[in-house]
Amino acid sequence: MINPKNKWRRYNSQLGICINEKCEKVITKYLIPNYQGQIQLVFTSPPFPLNRAKKYGNLTGEEYKVWLCDVVKSILPLLTEDGSIVIEIGNAWNSGEPTFSTLPMETLLHIKNECKLFLCQEFIYYNPARLPSPIQYVNIDRIRVKDSFTRVWWLSQSPNPKANNRNVLKQYSKQMKRILDTGEYNAGERPSEHNISETAFCNDNGGAIPSNVIIASNTNSRDPYLVRCKENGLKIHPARMPFEVPKFFINLLTDENDIVLDCFSGSNTTGFCAEKANRRWISIEADKNYYFGSKYRFK
Ligand SMILES: C[S@@+](CC[C@H](N)C(=O)[O-])C[C@H]1O[C@@H](n2cnc3c(N)ncnc32)[C@H](O)[C@@H]1O
Repeated sequence: MINPKNKWRRYNSQLGICINEKCEKVITKYLIPNYQGQIQLVFTSPPFPLNRAKKYGNLTGEEYKVWLCDVVKSILPLLTEDGSIVIEIGNAWNSGEPTFSTLPMETLLHIKNECKLFLCQEFIYYNPARLPSPIQYVNIDRIRVKDSFTRVWWLSQSPNPKANNRNVLKQYSKQMKRILDTGEYNAGERPSEHNISETAFCNDNGGAIPSNVIIASNTNSRDPYLVRCKENGLKIHPARMPFEVPKFFINLLTDENDIVLDCFSGSNTTGFCAEKANRRWISIEADKNYYFGSKYRFK
């Protein structure tokens, strides 16, 4: 990747670069001059509305919505014509009461409308191992249940961005493998009025087409990133994505050598998955500690 002229802290891998700076600066000073029309996929998980207020000033509510929308607007010129933006926004609860905030949903809708993007598909990222939260309402008062999924929106400037679901096939179920082996299946019309024909059902297409629910937990305590952060006394990123999520979208929406960008890269799960999949990548993280920790993914 092109090295920035600015003296920002950064590290390179064979295929990517991670920069320790606020993304707003990096987008205008480095990405716009060097990468217009070249990014195939922006995959990112921005800071959640309420956490951001604690750490980076007072951007909550309307201000958060406008800030994130401005960041997305600023990256649009970087995208290829058939490129995609995939955004996951964590859930938030209204302060002081057991009610769910609609801010993440409103922010996604605001981004879609303001940036004139198409919503290609909505995904759910379901983490069955998520710890009970909010603790007060779930564990103590026992008036809410565990909050364990977030929304992931796949947006694009075109209604037909590059995508290929053949690259994300899942293993066939035992039942399906039996059908493929024996050729025996229940033909005919289903209650849903789908008519299951031989051509649709008895072909081995190399795997099953996945749904838009991605089930993944972050429970791998032997991840070298975790081990090395602990050894070196660095704070482990609290909102790491499981590899399955970026990996799925990288495979679905890009080809080898395409460029993947994450402007809120945290522990750089996105860059790591892109590198493994032979994609070029650019990651940006404002927090020095998370940036330093993310280097361990590449050593
Ligand atoms: C939800 S986390 C991303 C986690 C990441 N997907 C991972 O797997 O580790 C959001 C990150 O955005 C960073 N951040 C917040 N504001 C930023 C900004 N203006 N520019 C760049 N990074 C920022 C935070 O420090 C945080 O690490």
